[in-house]
Amino acid sequence: MSKLWGGRFQKKTSAMVDDFHSSISFDCRLYRYDIEGSMAHAEMLGKTGIITPGEAGTIVDGLKEVLSDIENGLVEFSVSAEDIHMNIEQILTDRIGAVAKKLHTARSRNDQVALDIRMYLRDEIDNTVKLLDHLRETLAEMARGHLDTVMPGYTHLQRAQPITLAHHLMAYVQMFGRDRQRLLDCRRRVNVLPLGAGALAGTTFPLDPEFVAGKLGFDGVAQNSLDAVSDRDFAVEFTACASIIMVHLSRFCEEIILWSSAEFSFIELDDEYSTGSSMMPQKKNPDVAELIRGKSGRVFGDLTALLTMLKGIPLAYNKDMQEDKEALFDALDTVKKCLAVIRPMLATLRVRKENMLEAARGGFTNATDLADYLVRKGVPFREAHEIVGRAVFYCVQAGKSLDQLTLEEYSAFSPLVEEDVYTFIAISRCVEARKVLAGPSPDSVRRAIEKSGVN
Ligand code: ARG
Repeated sequence: MSKLWGGRFQKKTSAMVDDFHSSISFDCRLYRYDIEGSMAHAEMLGKTGIITPGEAGTIVDGLKEVLSDIENGLVEFSVSAEDIHMNIEQILTDRIGAVAKKLHTARSRNDQVALDIRMYLRDEIDNTVKLLDHLRETLAEMARGHLDTVMPGYTHLQRAQPITLAHHLMAYVQMFGRDRQRLLDCRRRVNVLPLGAGALAGTTFPLDPEFVAGKLGFDGVAQNSLDAVSDRDFAVEFTACASIIMVHLSRFCEEIILWSSAEFSFIELDDEYSTGSSMMPQKKNPDVAELIRGKSGRVFGDLTALLTMLKGIPLAYNKDMQEDKEALFDALDTVKKCLAVIRPMLATLRVRKENMLEAARGGFTNATDLADYLVRKGVPFREAHEIVGRAVFYCVQAGKSLDQLTLEEYSAFSPLVEEDVYTFIAISRCVEARKVLAGPSPDSVRRAIEKSGVN
């Protein structure tokens, strides 16, 4: 097949080069956007009189047919036509003849590819936001059921203070909520029309980019033709957003992995979302969570690939930029898959409330509350801290918890400890008393669920 750009050449491209520089194997997923973009472009060419309205109509009808044939699996793309843009133009030409050759008037593949990616990414951002919303709804639902499920909160992975599972889950609702905002903010910069920039310097034809922007649902039109064809910051930005989502997912998964170990025994994953071992019959492994944690690495890799690809290329378009697609697609596919699979894994897990409570009871998670008790009796906090520290040391030696100390034992540390200490340092009270904004008390968490705006 001869090339759409063949005029300048005396020899055919080597087969190895055809194979090397062809992007059809991966940019074929842009076909619908490429066709929709071309239809809007053709209509605009007709409307502005750059081609006749009749020619524009023939092109648009031809493109519609190409679209439906691709959707019905009737089209085979060719490597020698290089990419999705030239494949579609070639197929159109084969079908409607010479008039198809007018479609590319006042357009370059450089503004065309930028258009296609922006349209594709815009839709995929919306899909990712939906997945995030669904996950946030599931987490809020779980939180509603665990407002009183006490568990230890950790720092340094050492038991620190008692919280509830609801509070812990709602931390992720906050993170995923910010991820959502970041995506929507990124979408504003994605949704700008680059078409009209041509190869790099615009065109001498009297285009109407506003018309095309309106047709294709863009909020604005690019203001500089060089910039429009040569930056992929919007793809970097999305991949950065995806990376942050993956960090959040990965930390959550790390906790799921820990919690499902026999050492923690806080949760049990459903059989549907865990796997076995080929050798050890007893194993039930949290593979899904591990794989999400592992896949975060590839998304960070995609981000690094995009940044590195861009950093040294002079304006405007360079073929390096064809490398944007696989990294972007991979980040998108990965983050979407992870968001989709983590949701039912979480929704079906069984919580071992009793083990969570027991863990919160051990580990002196009420030590801060005992110090606060003394503070309320007039002891300066730093002194109270010291006193409780000594009491904890005593408990460790005696194999007791703070609430198991008798008043007589307490008197060795402070004369101010009275009978009311036992209610004050009871684990459930420690949680309930943390009523301040953003705290773990059931009331605060209930309010946080409402404020999060998740149904
Ligand atoms: N397949 C190319 C890409 O993805 C399309 C743009 C090609 N432009 C060019 N001047 N070779 O970047």
